[in-house]
Amino acid sequence: MTDFSARASVKIDGRGGRYLYAQADELRAAGPAVAVELPDGRPAWSVSRGEVVRFLSAHPGVSGHVAPGPEPITPPRPDVATLLDELAAQPADEPIDLRATYSRRLPVTAGFGSRATVALINHTIRELLANPDQLATLITQPNRWPDALEESLRVHCPVASVLRRAEEDIDLGDGVTVRAGEAILLNHLAHGRDPNVHEDPEIFDIDRASKEHLAFGVGPHSCPAADRALLEAEVAIRILLDRFPRLHLAVPPERIPPLPSFTINDVATLPVLLRHRLAKAA
Ligand code: HEM
Repeated sequence: MTDFSARASVKIDGRGGRYLYAQADELRAAGPAVAVELPDGRPAWSVSRGEVVRFLSAHPGVSGHVAPGPEPITPPRPDVATLLDELAAQPADEPIDLRATYSRRLPVTAGFGSRATVALINHTIRELLANPDQLATLITQPNRWPDALEESLRVHCPVASVLRRAEEDIDLGDGVTVRAGEAILLNHLAHGRDPNVHEDPEIFDIDRASKEHLAFGVGPHSCPAADRALLEAEVAIRILLDRFPRLHLAVPPERIPPLPSFTINDVATLPVLLRHRLAKAA
């Protein structure tokens, strides 16, 4: 049987982005649950395998989330037309941080999930600008937008992990028993990037047949606002691209810095060129 406190040798990486992805791969491979230390020093069981996340999410002996989620984004939030006008007043060919000037200020539904919706918007914009062929598909076939958002959720799950607590002893097999009172870090991000579930999981491809992910959680505590968040993200991205059809990343996608966090998976900044006042041939 695993001694929880003695085995907490892995420290959860709080640097976000590619560090979260790399650690999810390691933790998924290491076992059904791995004793870890959270960035604030607390011990927890990290659970990264999709089937174990599903099992524990539905288990009556596991609490709802115990830590408040990422802090909701608070007003002031101008209306979208004002935001777009403010952007249009910016230079066409100098880098603008689209997260600070647009996505983070959008009037998306306030509350628990607002940061996640903003992260979904940022990741999707970055992937579409990095993959212009896929963006072109969406422009000619707008019915494909749900494919783009689902694929974005699969590759860049916005709520990377949530913290729960075992209310009773739970045997996970492989010699791992989570004891009553112990914290469980449910990793929602790992499943969509699992090479046993998806071929070349790190590649963004709106045409892939299965985009299975756990981005909205599973079981009784899964996100009640998933449809709304998807709709808000789609509208926010489409109106931006309608107004700025030549929007470009200002740096290569791999140089966009992640937001340091182990719970919310977002970018820290999203540098773009608006290119709205350039001559047509540019
Ligand atoms: C892309 C956007 C969003 C993502 C990826 C997301 C993801 C999630 C996840 C993973 C959970 C499960 C937490 C757990 O297992 O403990 C959750 C729960 C929840 N979400 Fe969202 N969410 C999003 C948007 C929103 C929005 C816009 C709202 C509404 C304001 C919202 C409200 C909630 C609430 C209230 C819960 C708790 C449900 C419960 O404990 O029964 N979410 N969300």
